[in-house]
Amino acid sequence: MKEVAKYLIKVDAEFKDGRIVPEIPYEEVMRLVNEPNIVLIKTGIPENTLRTIIDTTRAWAAETPLAEGPDTFDNNQHKQRLHIAKIQKAPQLFHDHTFDAMLDLDEPMKQTFLSVFDPMRQFWNSLTGNNEEYGIRKGEPYFHPQVTHYPLGGSFFGRHWHPLNPQKVGMILALNQYGKDYHSGGTGYVINDHIVETEGFQDIGDMTLFRYDLPHWVSPSSFADRFSWEDPAGRWVAILPFYNPWGTPADKDEPQGWKTQIQAAKNTPSEAAV
Ligand SMILES: [Fe+2]
Repeated sequence: MKEVAKYLIKVDAEFKDGRIVPEIPYEEVMRLVNEPNIVLIKTGIPENTLRTIIDTTRAWAAETPLAEGPDTFDNNQHKQRLHIAKIQKAPQLFHDHTFDAMLDLDEPMKQTFLSVFDPMRQFWNSLTGNNEEYGIRKGEPYFHPQVTHYPLGGSFFGRHWHPLNPQKVGMILALNQYGKDYHSGGTGYVINDHIVETEGFQDIGDMTLFRYDLPHWVSPSSFADRFSWEDPAGRWVAILPFYNPWGTPADKDEPQGWKTQIQAAKNTPSEAAV
């Protein structure tokens, strides 16, 4: 475990029998996340396995028409996003592939995706004390596994946030390598009015953990490159959102609950002082 920048902590892990096992207990990882810090887990998932997720996603997308119309949250779909979110006004430009119905994919493809998404699911369950499985559950929170491509030449995601629950901890797994497969763009956060940029710190196989109500964004890929939806170059990540799509959306005001909590703790006299 090592603090590599202010509020940015790297934690080693072992990838053993399809599980991500951190060098420190899961409770300790969650304590660091909630403090809050950005925690980078070096998952140890083999590079080949990660790159296969990109290849498989591209092959699937090549034979699956782009989705149009409102999201239904009950299928496998991919969309080229280019809009400004209604409530939070966060602008975005990226290509996402969501596999809400991952279990319905044909067997080899399903097994390929599960080789990465199952370790992520088990890791999240261990962190949050849940025991959730994949599958669509109308009216309840469930997993929305996603592979996101940030193309070269100006993809990004503006500052936004999410309700803390039921996700608690957001996870972003790097599927390719900064400095090799792409040269700009990364996820940024704000903690105690301090900006934490993870660009350049996250290697292939590193999984960023963050308290889900922290304001965050994806800084743009360089405009010096030519933009193309078709070019697979650029940053690829796997994420595992867990929410009820028909539940209450995030508030338009930024949640700073953790800041208030820290403040409250300082203002409350300790038992020793009473
Ligand atoms: Fe987000």
